[in-house]
Amino acid sequence: MKGLWDHSMGCALACSTVAKHVGFKDPEEYAVAGLLHDIGKVLAVVQLPECKEEIINAVKNDDLTYLEAENKVLGFGHDRINHWVAGYWNLPLKLKEGLAFHHKPSQARHYPDVAQVVHVGDFLTRLFEVGSGGDDQVSTLDREVMLKLGIDFPLLEKILDELVTEFEELAVS
Ligand SMILES: [Fe+2]
Ligand SMILES: [Fe+2]
Repeated sequence: MKGLWDHSMGCALACSTVAKHVGFKDPEEYAVAGLLHDIGKVLAVVQLPECKEEIINAVKNDDLTYLEAENKVLGFGHDRINHWVAGYWNLPLKLKEGLAFHHKPSQARHYPDVAQVVHVGDFLTRLFEVGSGGDDQVSTLDREVMLKLGIDFPLLEKILDELVTEFEELAVS
């Protein structure tokens, strides 16, 4: 899971930046969701170490995303694990939905805003290649999510400008 910590830290930063720019209150709440969004990846390889190599091989040999590889090997992905564990840990519904639906924000019924912000944060973190989410691919950005968050090109430019500096600071810290 080399690189996942940096990816998670980067995503936390990206989520708070996106949340702030789209005008959401308490950007730090979105940062927590960003920090924990791939926790299911860690839990899967810790609990099922025999599957770790198989997932990594599927990413490399079959050119799959990490999520696709998890689904192929385990039959479910880290998004599903996030859903289970967030329920088990009694995390607030807001956080639970952010973790469980960051790949499919349209499935979040109560707090789609958190899942949407994490979706964009994850994409931006991969775009800037901060850490590693387990594969080399930049996740698909759902255009619908950008529309729902009201992120147009001028706003995206502002977010990118701020993130460049933040990611640079993260890299030297
Ligand atoms: Fe993910
Ligand atoms: Fe991620």
